[in-house]
Amino acid sequence: MKCTIHANKQFVRGTVDPRLFGSFVEQLGRAVYGGVYEVDHPASDEEGFRTDVMDLVRQLDVPVVRFPGGNYVSNFNWEDSIGPKENRPTRLDLAWKALDPNQFGLQEFMHWAKKVGTEPMMVFNLGTRGLAEAKELVEYCNHPGGSYLSDLRKSHGSEDPFDIKLWGLGNEMDGPWQVGHKTAEEYGRLASEVGKAIKLFDPSLELVACGSSNSNMPTFPKWEETVLDHTYEVVDYLSLHMYFRNDEKDIATFLACSASMDAFIETVVHVCDYVKAKKRSKKTMYLCFDEWNVWFHSHDKDKQQTPWIVGPSLLEDVYTFEDALVVGCLLNSLLRHCDRVKIACIAQLVNTIAPIMTETGGDAWKQTIYWPLNYASKYGRGEILECRVEVASYENKQYGTIPYADTLMVHHPETGEIDLFVVNRHQSESLALNLDLTGFGPDYHVFEQVVLQHADLYAVNDKDNPDEVKPSVVAFTDKNTSALQVAPLSWNLLRFH
Ligand code: AHR
Repeated sequence: MKCTIHANKQFVRGTVDPRLFGSFVEQLGRAVYGGVYEVDHPASDEEGFRTDVMDLVRQLDVPVVRFPGGNYVSNFNWEDSIGPKENRPTRLDLAWKALDPNQFGLQEFMHWAKKVGTEPMMVFNLGTRGLAEAKELVEYCNHPGGSYLSDLRKSHGSEDPFDIKLWGLGNEMDGPWQVGHKTAEEYGRLASEVGKAIKLFDPSLELVACGSSNSNMPTFPKWEETVLDHTYEVVDYLSLHMYFRNDEKDIATFLACSASMDAFIETVVHVCDYVKAKKRSKKTMYLCFDEWNVWFHSHDKDKQQTPWIVGPSLLEDVYTFEDALVVGCLLNSLLRHCDRVKIACIAQLVNTIAPIMTETGGDAWKQTIYWPLNYASKYGRGEILECRVEVASYENKQYGTIPYADTLMVHHPETGEIDLFVVNRHQSESLALNLDLTGFGPDYHVFEQVVLQHADLYAVNDKDNPDEVKPSVVAFTDKNTSALQVAPLSWNLLRFH
């Protein structure tokens, strides 16, 4: 099948904010205990951080990590997680019916973030708590000293402020499952008052208001409108969450699901711009897609989980090759909307619906979805080009007309290189790529093709076969790009200079 791509370097959709490749560590399952933190593990450092996990995180080059939740945060007392570890209380985490020993708290997270080279995105509890606790948390974290809470931080060993720039105003507050769930009016009022207080402390701090938990929520998109009516001038981003599943084992539909991510983003952008117009505002609202991923493999197992233990094996989706293709399409969708989506966090980072999996006391390895994420993080930071793509499409009952090729082109003006991400959704035909690179000069040619492909859609990586699904790299020595082929059901990165 022919696929022709016309690109012109003048036609730039937007420049990618590196925070699009962010992630999320929630106090959930083995994300923390047995994941990033395991005091007795032979590979752990003096602070109990697993160095094997840190290495895999560093390779992903994750610019921002959201913490500590998620649903967990709506019942979290930040004060429980500071000071000498032996004095910290064990609490009941109502969201996940687990025991929370508070051994990996605020300070530990900040140390870990520094070690892996990431910035924190800290989320306030706006479920069981409110303005007072939020402003006190910011004082503890960011004030240099001379006040009660900043001096308390110093007494805990952190002389310098944590200087956390990005803050989430609660989590999924539209969801009836949320501890302290609120109506849009209630949440909008609270978020705006918390936001106002935080910006009185430091107007340069960036705030994310909760949008809908997904686009099927009965309150979507009215929720966005009401929340923004209250918060438009005080917040910097509105959040989106979306998870994808394939219970029916219907690959054509599953591969098309990025169309619903596109539609969700575009609808939220319209609501933001509508509120902007109503308010006659000069400010543009940006989006923070702070939870996205495939999530369904572990649903049945999770129903059998023993409650009230530390670090239960929850949400441990073992990802297939098919999931990696979908994650590739979802990354293309986020990148395509880089003019408005500035931050995104794959949910999550370790063990819990995550690209990195560990065995408690044992190895750490890369899940299949690690690979598209890894390459997008490395080569997706640049200018996203508006391309015209000519390729056949198919009709899907759920998502409509879907092109067989999901393509995304990134230009790096500083090196002149171009990176092209392509997922071939066709189940039996290769794509014969024909590139029309107007304005790039006549000599542009491909020098490398990275391919993620497997004969079995359900192939997985596990501790015995950690490299079952991994990319292969083909180097091109001559300049003939006319024969570029993209195999059926494959994810690809083609690099040009
Ligand atoms: O990421 C897992 C959970 O999904 C989060 O805790 C919650 O915000 C969402 O529903």
